[in-house]
Amino acid sequence: MTAPTANWSYPTAIRFGAGRIKELAEACAAAGIARPLLVTDKGLANLPITKNALDIFDAAGLGRAIFSDVDPNPTDNNLDAGVAAFKAGRHDGVIAFGGGSALDLGKLVAFMAGQTRPVWDFEDIGDWWTRADADAIFPSVAVPTTAGTGSEVGRAGVVTNSRTHVKKIIFHPKIMPSVVICDPELTVGMPKAITVGTGMDAFAHCLEAYCSPFYHPMSQGIALEGMRLVKENLPRVFADGGDIEARAHMMSAAAMGATAFQKGLGAVHALSHPVGALYNTHHGTTNAVVIPPVLRFNRPAIEDRLAAAAAYLGIAGGFDGFYDFVLGLRAKLGVPDKLRDLGVGDDRIDELAAMAIEDPSAGGNPVKLTLDSAKTLLEECI
Ligand SMILES: NC(=O)c1ccc[n+]([C@@H]2O[C@H](COP(=O)([O-])OP(=O)(O)OC[C@H]3O[C@@H](n4cnc5c(N)ncnc54)[C@H](O)[C@@H]3O)[C@@H](O)[C@H]2O)c1
Ligand SMILES: [Fe+2]
Repeated sequence: MTAPTANWSYPTAIRFGAGRIKELAEACAAAGIARPLLVTDKGLANLPITKNALDIFDAAGLGRAIFSDVDPNPTDNNLDAGVAAFKAGRHDGVIAFGGGSALDLGKLVAFMAGQTRPVWDFEDIGDWWTRADADAIFPSVAVPTTAGTGSEVGRAGVVTNSRTHVKKIIFHPKIMPSVVICDPELTVGMPKAITVGTGMDAFAHCLEAYCSPFYHPMSQGIALEGMRLVKENLPRVFADGGDIEARAHMMSAAAMGATAFQKGLGAVHALSHPVGALYNTHHGTTNAVVIPPVLRFNRPAIEDRLAAAAAYLGIAGGFDGFYDFVLGLRAKLGVPDKLRDLGVGDDRIDELAAMAIEDPSAGGNPVKLTLDSAKTLLEECI
C-alpha cells in the first residue's frame, strides 16, 4: 500500500495526505480566514516546514504573520502574549501549526481573543463552557507536525497555570478547528524521542479510552483500531523516520486517539498531567513510562476487555500477553522504565498524588484512584 490520501468530514473537515500542506491557503478560505496568524512554538519557528507554510499563505496574499512565543506545556503567559499579538495584528483567525503545545495554544488564542472573562472560567467542568460568548470565537485551521496528541481534532486546549503550576483543560465545542491538514511529511523531521513520545501518547489515548468504564461503543471501536495502527506503525517510523506510509498511519492513530477519548481517559493521564506540570517532562513520554503500573493497578476491572483487545491486535495470552506486548514495545522504542530517568524525584509524591486525584482524567479510570493508591502508583513509577 502507498501512503493514503483522503478527505474526511468527521470529526471535522480533514484534508489527509502527503504534500497537502500546499492546500493551506484554500483551507484558510474554507475556514473563512483572510488575515491568519500562524501560531507555533519556539522550536518550530525556524524550521523549513514552518517557513514553507508561511511562504504558501504569503503567496496567496494572506500575509506571513507568526507568533512563536510558545513553550512546551504552554502557560497562560504564552496565551496572553498570543492574544495580544492576534489583536495587534487585527487577525481574523489562527493557523495552529505544530505539536500539541502549539496546536492547543493556537486554538486557545482563537477562542480567547474575543472573550472578556479569564480563561480559567472555561475549564472543562460541567457547563462552564456556556459562559463563553460563542459568537466571538475566531476560526482556526490546525496543522499537526507531531503524531500524538490529536489536538487537531479536539474541542479542548491544555494550558498550565503559571502561578499554581496546574494543567487545566479548557473546553468549548467551537474550539474544534474548522479545517485540519494532516500531512505526514511534516512529521518526518521530529527528533526520535518526540516521535516515540508522541506515538505513545496516541497509544495511551486509545488504551485509556478503550478501558474507561463509560458506555460509548463508537469510541471503543475507534480506540481499538487506533491501538492496532500504533502497534503496526510506531516501530516502523522508529526504524525509518522517512517511512511516509507508516507516518500517515501514525497521524491517523493520533486523530483517532483524541476522537476516542471523548469517552474518558484514566490514571495514566491523571498521573502524567501533574508530573508534566511540576517537572516539565514531555507529556507522551511521561505517559509511556506510567502505563505498566497503571495496567497492573487496573487489572481486576479490565482483564476481560484487554483480552479482547489482545485478540484483535493479534497478541496471544490475553491480559498478560497485552501487558508483555506493552513492555516489549517500550523497550524496543527506548522508552525509559522509570520517571526518575526523566528527572522526577520522590520528594514531591504527596503533592503529585493530591493533584492526580483532582485531575479530570482520574474520574475515567476503571478502578477508583484514591490518594493512597495514587501515592503507591507514583512510588512504583518513580
Ligand atoms: N488538546 C489535547 O487534547 C491534548 C492531548 C494530549 C496532550 N496535549 C498537550 O500537548 C502537549 C504535547 O504535545 P506534543 O507531544 O505534540 O509535543 P510538543 O508540541 O510540546 O512538541 C515537542 C517538541 O517537538 C518539536 N517539534 C514538533 N514537531 C516537530 C517537527 N515536525 N520537527 C521537529 N521538531 C518538532 C517542538 O518544537 C517541541 O520542541 C502538552 O502540552 C500536552 O498537555 C493536548
Ligand atoms: Fe495525552
